[in-house]
Amino acid sequence: MSAEPKVLIGVIGGSGLYNLGDLTVLKEVHPETPWGLPSSPITIASLPSGVLVAFLARHGSNHSFSPSSIPVRANISALKSLGVKAIIAFSAVGSLREEIKPGDFVIPSQIIDRTKGIRPASFFEGTSVVAHAGFGDPFSGKLTAWLEKEVKKALDAKNVDLHTDKCVVCMEGPQFSTRAESKMYRQWGGDIINMSVLPEAKLAREAELSYALIATATDYDSWRPHEAAVTVADVFKTLKTNAEISRHVTAAVLTDLHAAVEEGDILTESIGAMKFSIMRPAT
Ligand code: ADE
Repeated sequence: MSAEPKVLIGVIGGSGLYNLGDLTVLKEVHPETPWGLPSSPITIASLPSGVLVAFLARHGSNHSFSPSSIPVRANISALKSLGVKAIIAFSAVGSLREEIKPGDFVIPSQIIDRTKGIRPASFFEGTSVVAHAGFGDPFSGKLTAWLEKEVKKALDAKNVDLHTDKCVVCMEGPQFSTRAESKMYRQWGGDIINMSVLPEAKLAREAELSYALIATATDYDSWRPHEAAVTVADVFKTLKTNAEISRHVTAAVLTDLHAAVEEGDILTESIGAMKFSIMRPAT
């Protein structure tokens, strides 16, 4: 009897990316977790190579969750319960830099937290455990380095620019930033801005899952002096093309990523991430 193929990779789709296109769908699951149901049913799909991937739409299959109301703990917990070891998250972002144009892709290495503490950001909240996960490097280094090389190849084939080692500002919303805030984020060293990389990245760390972000630029936010400030209409302009390219990237890199994860190289950096994080164990 052959063993069931494992679902080692999870993909979280952001605005505009609600499915993985042509991949063969094997089944849909909607696991109830201690934190409730995830934002969408999770599609288990197969690539032509036989590699399996679990896909979750962060905002729900028909975009019913605003960034502040996404059940992020349920999302991360549900992916972990399926056996996922590494998550590639996609997100639409505004650009804070001239050279990052709408339509460009960005793999960031740092985050500035401008969420307002209203999103549950820890699995330990409400328990007797006091834990402080290390988060100095918020994205998994090996996974990010691997993606930088492979995503670049996939994007070159489509003539799309990739920027790496950038800093993403995560803001609360739902309103976009003021011009003053947008300029301030640039001074702080922010390169792109979104509303949803947190607490997702923090919870992935607590769950000891490898996590990396592939950001797709949709607009120039609100810092450019002679340009109108960002609106949803701007975001929509590039969303569809960005989603098509994201599907191409996913299909191009997943089979090799699966092999890398299975060989343990990318996996090992997240396992044990919480080992030295517990100040007070469960009582
Ligand atoms: N998502 C896409 N564009 C954005 C922007 N300008 N600000 C915050 N989140 C975004």
